[in-house]
Amino acid sequence: MSGVRPNLRLVTEPAHVIATRTFYDAIAEDYAELFRTELDDAPLDRALLTGFAETVRREHADPSTVEAGCGPGVVTDQLRRLGLQVRGIDLSPAMVALARRTFPQVGFAVGEMGRLDAADATLAAVVAWYSLIHVPEGDRPAVLAEFRRVLRPGGYLLLGFQAGTDTLRLDEAFGQQVSLDFHRLDPDAVVAMTEGAGLELVARLVRAPERRSSAAAVPQAAVIARRPG
Ligand SMILES: C[S@@+](CC[C@H](N)C(=O)[O-])C[C@H]1O[C@@H](n2cnc3c(N)ncnc32)[C@H](O)[C@@H]1O
Repeated sequence: MSGVRPNLRLVTEPAHVIATRTFYDAIAEDYAELFRTELDDAPLDRALLTGFAETVRREHADPSTVEAGCGPGVVTDQLRRLGLQVRGIDLSPAMVALARRTFPQVGFAVGEMGRLDAADATLAAVVAWYSLIHVPEGDRPAVLAEFRRVLRPGGYLLLGFQAGTDTLRLDEAFGQQVSLDFHRLDPDAVVAMTEGAGLELVARLVRAPERRSSAAAVPQAAVIARRPG
């Protein structure tokens, strides 16, 4: 059969998925060290996670939760301490290995947030804490649809992100030549997108830039939405 190469494996992963994995695999150890104590110095983030976990637990006796894009697992473990039955998934095998080593009491797996390893309507909550920021605009509705698919009726979604409309392109991080886009997201557009995915708004929060770190030097936002039912 001319022209057919049966051993050729089709690469179907989107470019942003490959770029994100490459970036975080290269910097996992340095990133984890920098953000190891990220929550200790962020009382408003801790308050938000606490309020979110309590909201979920109040309505779901089985608070099964996935943190999508868990990185080194600091937030995943915080959600566990707050009473959620949480597991973390991340594109980067290096991040997942690191998270497992640091928090052996939590389950972590390599995975992609656009294709979650969870059956329809089985989760009480999905958290995407500063991870949707790496998904290009055109791909975000499909990711939101995936979050809605896995949430039970009455299940909650929490999105954390830097607020804005621009995209920061890093071509170097921790001395490594790796490139990645960090999209700042317009909170109103995120609300519209969650509503477009069939979720209803619970909270939209924006806070002013802070001096505590360069990562916090732009406005920070969170959106909580709920699958009706
Ligand atoms: C800025 S870090 C945030 C990590 C963690 N949520 C935290 O706040 O410490 C973004 C993480 O999201 C992951 N990520 C980005 N896009 C993803 C995708 N499509 N599927 C799974 N993980 C993804 C990256 O690999 C990275 O570990």
